[in-house]
Amino acid sequence: MKCCNAYESKHMRDVTGITLRPGKFILTDKAVEFCKFSSEDFIMDLGSGMGATVNYLYEKHGINAVGVDPSQKLIDIGMDKYKNINLVKGRGEEIPFSNESFNGVFAECTMSLMDDVDLVIEEVSRVLKEDGWFVITDVYAKNPKFTDRLNELSINSCMRGLHNLELLQKALAKGGFKIMLLEDCSDMLKALMVKIIFSYGSMSVFWNKATECSLDGEEFHKILKLCKPGYFIMIARKGEENYE
Ligand SMILES: C[S@@+](CC[C@H](N)C(=O)[O-])C[C@H]1O[C@@H](n2cnc3c(N)ncnc32)[C@H](O)[C@@H]1O
Repeated sequence: MKCCNAYESKHMRDVTGITLRPGKFILTDKAVEFCKFSSEDFIMDLGSGMGATVNYLYEKHGINAVGVDPSQKLIDIGMDKYKNINLVKGRGEEIPFSNESFNGVFAECTMSLMDDVDLVIEEVSRVLKEDGWFVITDVYAKNPKFTDRLNELSINSCMRGLHNLELLQKALAKGGFKIMLLEDCSDMLKALMVKIIFSYGSMSVFWNKATECSLDGEEFHKILKLCKPGYFIMIARKGEENYE
């Protein structure tokens, strides 16, 4: 049972800015270039938060996108901030769109929050057109043997769901995706952590403030350190074809 949504916290917004993730739009731009997305394409941002990426894709690249997120609070903030974006309430486990609607799906720092990764992959595959792209940027454990201890905590933060990259790759392959790019981007996570420590004094203090529940920030930080968190970008493509 998870009690507090760290990503809805004002403290989280204060340190990350309009995107609730490390690296701002650097990896969004990299994915647009890698997948050669154009204004002809229709994209879904899964776990869109306040809709910053939906807005950015249109403003910077002329690409139409729709955001899907379960948090009414973040949707309301986003709809107020950006007047012309489309954000829909929904979850990765049950995407509220029909089959083969999108050329690409972005999931930026959100898969780690979803309870059933296999089901999400199945849903993303369903709404993607053939040859469609699945762009995942997220946190992972360089030392995954301690991630079970994170799952026992009742915090709803992506850091609680650090991916095991080997398992994620297997799940994508099983779901009919081929991995086209996988890169470590841990410097972006490190930069965000440095910023947090400058602003709050320590990661433990930040977690106590951002979660506003009975979580022991020091204990959470201790387990996180054991897992050695990193950040990655993975781009997968739907279909059986061999793209090499
Ligand atoms: C760390 S924030 C990232 C938001 C956005 N992608 C960004 O980078 O600004 C994680 C987002 O995932 C959303 N989320 C949580 N559980 C989800 C689920 N089951 N399906 C889709 N989105 C989910 C949260 O509401 C939150 O907006």
